[in-house]
Amino acid sequence: MRMLVSAGPTREFIDPVRFLSNRSTGRMGYAIASAAIAAGHETALVSGPVSLDAPPGLAALDRVVSAREMLAALESRIDWCDALVMSAAVADFRPERAAQAKIRKSEMPDSLRLVRNPDILLALLPRKGNRVFAGFAAETGDPDPGAADKLARKGLDLIVANDVTRPGAGFEVDTNIVTLIAPGAAPEHLPLMSKAEVAARIVEKIEALAAAVASEPGRR
Ligand code: CTP
Repeated sequence: MRMLVSAGPTREFIDPVRFLSNRSTGRMGYAIASAAIAAGHETALVSGPVSLDAPPGLAALDRVVSAREMLAALESRIDWCDALVMSAAVADFRPERAAQAKIRKSEMPDSLRLVRNPDILLALLPRKGNRVFAGFAAETGDPDPGAADKLARKGLDLIVANDVTRPGAGFEVDTNIVTLIAPGAAPEHLPLMSKAEVAARIVEKIEALAAAVASEPGRR
């Protein structure tokens, strides 16, 4: 299979020295790319700014900074892939204007005007075709209801839900506690595992979903 993986945060610049972003380190997404390569899949990675080495054996690596750059990179690769794993933590908002020069403290306004970034999964949905689309749901508290809603709203085949407030889960750790939710199936609650192990389970699940799509009569 050809797997397209997004990883890491995006940065939305206020001026050349300041940005809005989030706590994502890219570890989960890089682990998924590594697991996909290890399983023999051609794998392309679109990465926000992270301090991780590229997994050896990638078919392509696009380094991007903002949500709009990430969307453009994924749009240019979407037709190539059989499965998209959207593990990036995309910044939902950006400053309305990015200043070209550093804003002096004395000139900094009291409030920043923000505008919404595109929802990348929703933007790619019209080009899904028979591709398997997987997303993540970063939630605080029981992740299942919010994740089930995102699964439906974003037209996904799989959502990986995690409560980022649980010790050993979410950002800046090498482990995760996730639930895999696919339409019409019981949620699979996985125990605390290394991100490498979680990644291998996600890749296996995507392989099974792709095989199910391929065997549907009248498709492929
Ligand atoms: N995502 C996306 N484009 C965005 C924001 C998120 O494609 N602008 C993707 C993420 O990569 C993830 C999924 O959508 O796979 C869910 O992301 P999450 O941040 O949990 O949810 P949001 O859509 O941002 O919704 P909310 O802020 O209401 O939780």
